[in-house]
Formats: sequence, structure tokens, C-alpha cells
Amino acid sequence: MKTIELTSKMIVYEDRQEVPVDILQLIAKAEEAANRAYAPYSNFHVGAAILLNNGQIVTGANQENAVFPAGLCAERTAAFSASAHYPEVPFSRIAITAINPVEILREPVSPCGSCRQVLFEYENKFNQPIEVILSGQEGPIYHFSRVADLLPYSFHAGFLP
Ligand code: THU
Repeated sequence: MKTIELTSKMIVYEDRQEVPVDILQLIAKAEEAANRAYAPYSNFHVGAAILLNNGQIVTGANQENAVFPAGLCAERTAAFSASAHYPEVPFSRIAITAINPVEILREPVSPCGSCRQVLFEYENKFNQPIEVILSGQEGPIYHFSRVADLLPYSFHAGFLP
């Protein structure tokens, strides 16, 4: 028997002044998208902005529904839109942020497991890492160099017959 440690790395920017301008610009797009969320049930407004290899930025915001499970997260809204509009263009990076109108979010939002899995699919499809940038309304910013680092020992198409 042996124990294997699954580890991953991220960059932590403690101060927004440390963050490269192009990343701040993508975060700003995600913030704009969060302001367009349809989240009347949770009141938690999430925005995502995907930078594609062709320079286009595709955004998404969470879409809720009175039948709660029918709603969709911001990340998948953005990823599916990007793939539907530009099926052959790899994703370079995604910025994800959230606005809590009740209490300021002081830590980076964490993408749910389904969204990680969906982003991982596109990382594999194009065989190109997708950088993931997470922020709150204030506080640190986290920067992962690839989705796989957020999804250790993940399921992928290679398991399928
Ligand atoms: N949500 C997202 O859109 N992305 C995340 O990373 C976390 C959660 C949404 C789903 C739901 O509309 C609301 O936030 C509360 O869970």
C-alpha cells in the first residue's frame, strides 16, 4: 500500500496592483457579466469571461429558474456559448467572479464541480491548458495555470469504450 499526494499550484495575488493588466481586463469583463446575472432566487450574481485564442471574449452569467435544477452557472453559460459560437477555437483563459449584494464577497469564488468538469472537457478537446482566474469583490485573486489543477484524478473521455 502507498499514499499518493495529489497537489496543485496557484498564484495568489494579494493586491490587485500586482495583477497583469490583461488579466484585470478579463476580470472586468467577468464583473460586467455578473451584473447581468439572472439570480432572483440565490441573489448570488456570478460572471465569467472566456478569452479565446482568436482574441474574442465570450461572457456568461448565472441563469436561475423557479425549477431550481434547471438553472445554469455562469461558467457553463460562458463555455457553452463560446463553444457554440467558435467551435474550433481553443479557450486561453477564463475569469470568474461574483457579486453578493447582501454581504461583500472578500474571497475568490470557487467554481462548482460540474463547471470544472465542463471546462476540463474543452481543455482536453483542444489539448491546451485553460488558465483559471478567480476573484471576489475584494481580497486576493487566485490564478491557476490549467483546469486540471482544479480537478485532480478527473474523469475524461479516455475512460470511455
Ligand atoms: N454559481 C455559479 O454561477 N458559479 C459558481 O461558480 C458557483 C455558483 C451560481 C449558481 C446559482 O445560480 C448561484 O450561483 C448560487 O449557487
